Amino acid sequence: MTRKLLLTTASAFALALLCFVMIVQAEDVPKVIILKGSPLGAVKFDHAKHIAGKIECATCHHASKPEKPMKAEHEACTDCHTKVAQAPMKTKLQAAFHDPMAKKGLCIDCHVKKAAEGVKTPAKCTDCHNKANG
Ligand code: HEC
Ligand code: HEC
Ligand code: HEC
Ligand code: HEC
Repeated sequence: MTRKLLLTTASAFALALLCFVMIVQAEDVPKVIILKGSPLGAVKFDHAKHIAGKIECATCHHASKPEKPMKAEHEACTDCHTKVAQAPMKTKLQAAFHDPMAKKGLCIDCHVKKAAEGVKTPAKCTDCHNKANG
């Protein structure tokens, strides 16, 4: 009896989880985004490759901040983080993604960690910035 109850609870939980996953996937997430802006070349960012690795949206899309509230939950970084930071913004475009030598930062820390685990991730400037990307 207890076992049956447990099984029912487990399947209800699994169903709820599945619904949650489906809702998340139903959101309109652009697959590939070309981030133009650097003279080194544009960066091709593939959402699908990143989300498939079960990376939470909030890893990159931080919550709205009082200094400059978001207009949408996953607003484009480039709406606020511009080449030269405009007050009240302090974090300029490059710093939103990485430090000047691309040794640290949002897009680098995880790649370094994954590379240490044996996953092939971009490391050099030109692994991300490529004139062929536009
Ligand atoms: C590894 C980092 C990362 C993760 C994880 C991530 N995103 Fe993004 N997302 C980006 C970047 C970078 C852009 C491009 C921003 C720009 O164009 O300025 C973007 C753009 C978007 C846009 C388009 C915004 C616009 O107005 O142009 C949407 C919508 C979006 N993401 C939704 C999501 C959702 C939903 C998830 C989770 C399922 C997610 N993202 C996970 C980095 C990420
Ligand atoms: C609606 C405006 C807005 C959008 C869109 C936005 N940010 Fe921010 N971001 C801010 C504000 C405000 C701060 C805090 C002040 C500052 O550092 O300039 C901030 C700070 C940061 C910081 C510094 C560390 C921290 O959390 O304080 C990073 C890194 C960052 N954002 C990355 C991103 C990335 C990547 C995206 C897109 C996936 C994004 N931001 C989208 C407004 C925004
Ligand atoms: C939480 C971890 C994590 C974060 C944060 C992250 N990445 Fe990645 N990235 C990965 C992993 C893992 C791969 C390898 C996935 C694959 O090749 O299937 C990867 C691969 C890539 C690739 C090469 C694959 C391709 O699309 O051709 C690019 C380019 C890339 N990331 C750009 C970015 C950018 C730009 C950011 C910041 C907005 C970012 N990544 C943030 C984990 C991360
Ligand atoms: C993991 C991918 C990745 C790597 C590696 C990387 N970048 Fe970036 N970088 C980005 C993204 C994404 C942006 C924001 C969109 C853009 O400007 O293309 C950016 C922005 C910039 C900017 C700001 C654009 C501007 O003109 O103000 C500069 C400068 C820059 N990167 C230089 C470099 C240099 C130099 C290296 C190597 C030391 C490097 N990047 C390595 C992803 C990367």
